[in-house]
Amino acid sequence: MTNLPIRKDLIGRSPYGAPQIDVPVRLNTNENPFGPSPALVAELAKVVSELGPNLNRYPDRDANELRADLANYLNSESQVNLTAKNIWPANGSNEVMQQLLQLFGGPDKTLVAFDPTYSMYEDYCRNTFTKYSSVSRNEDFTIDKSVIDKALALQPDIIVFTSPNNPTGTIIDLADIDYMLASFTGVVVVDEAYAEFRPAGTPSAVSRLGSNPRLVVIRTMSKAFSYAGARVGYAATSPEIVDAIQLVRLPYHLSTITQAIARVALRFSDELQGQLTLLRQERDDLAIWLNEQGFQVAPSGANFLLFGTFGDRNLVWEQLVEQGVLIRQTGPDGWLRVSIGTPEENQAFKTALTQVTNRTNGK
Ligand SMILES: Cc1ncc(COP(=O)(O)O)c(C=O)c1O
Repeated sequence: MTNLPIRKDLIGRSPYGAPQIDVPVRLNTNENPFGPSPALVAELAKVVSELGPNLNRYPDRDANELRADLANYLNSESQVNLTAKNIWPANGSNEVMQQLLQLFGGPDKTLVAFDPTYSMYEDYCRNTFTKYSSVSRNEDFTIDKSVIDKALALQPDIIVFTSPNNPTGTIIDLADIDYMLASFTGVVVVDEAYAEFRPAGTPSAVSRLGSNPRLVVIRTMSKAFSYAGARVGYAATSPEIVDAIQLVRLPYHLSTITQAIARVALRFSDELQGQLTLLRQERDDLAIWLNEQGFQVAPSGANFLLFGTFGDRNLVWEQLVEQGVLIRQTGPDGWLRVSIGTPEENQAFKTALTQVTNRTNGK
């Protein structure tokens, strides 16, 4: 690549991406470990074969039917009252975020995030020539008014919160989001990629959309919906912001097939509830087990746990891979992140971690 006349600021940079290693237990990218059900798969086959003969035509550029279905989903999930006009879907929430930065970012603009958090925010900024800044979360990874005040002191144009946060799982209180909205005149983005895993009764930031036209809540079908391979994410926001995004979206960005299969999965969303209950329970049980083994565990409302601390996390990570278990080296030094798998996968993780720590402790 070094001989190519690429942009100066990209020289020497590495592309984003978790290692894709073919091992029996993959707990590194926070997917739902259960694939779509056989009934859903059968419906997908039917819908795709019906669409096949029309693939010579471009898709619905505005994805109207999918947007209406996503609005209905959020209305029943979070007791809100959104319409298709409030929703903007794209190829994964990554694409939605990039569009937002294309729209609200740029050379004279600053985005502020809260460390540790999802590392792609920095990449979106780099790609859109937006200045990236961050402030540290509290020691326990929470964000409160004092942390928010530090962010505001940087005079940002865009603020991004992730809740539950990746990689810590921390949930932000709605009161703190209210404080932010009241004290800031820029764009507030709340990335709720993991919202479906939050404990029952935790309100979503979508409940604040009505009164805050500069609020954007990001959701995805990659996590709870078992649809990472389909690439569907979306923003819930004001109709004004949805209209403005049209300036930067590529024409026909969301394929006919993607729109249709997303709608199929939404029809099956009730099926998910049993899985989500199981995964939440597995998460809470695994957190207790890790604590019992003497690890620190960050309280998590997502489908993963950040635990530690290790003197040499890379060594632990490698030894787990040798045992056929892939987790993620991310977050502050010394910590590791494990995604919640099926009960069998979580057991395999526990067995492998026990062996690795016994080895390290010379047992
Ligand atoms: C906080 C957060 N936002 C967004 C994404 C990307 O999701 P998508 O697959 O919808 O692009 C991830 C993926 O890991 C994530 O952790």
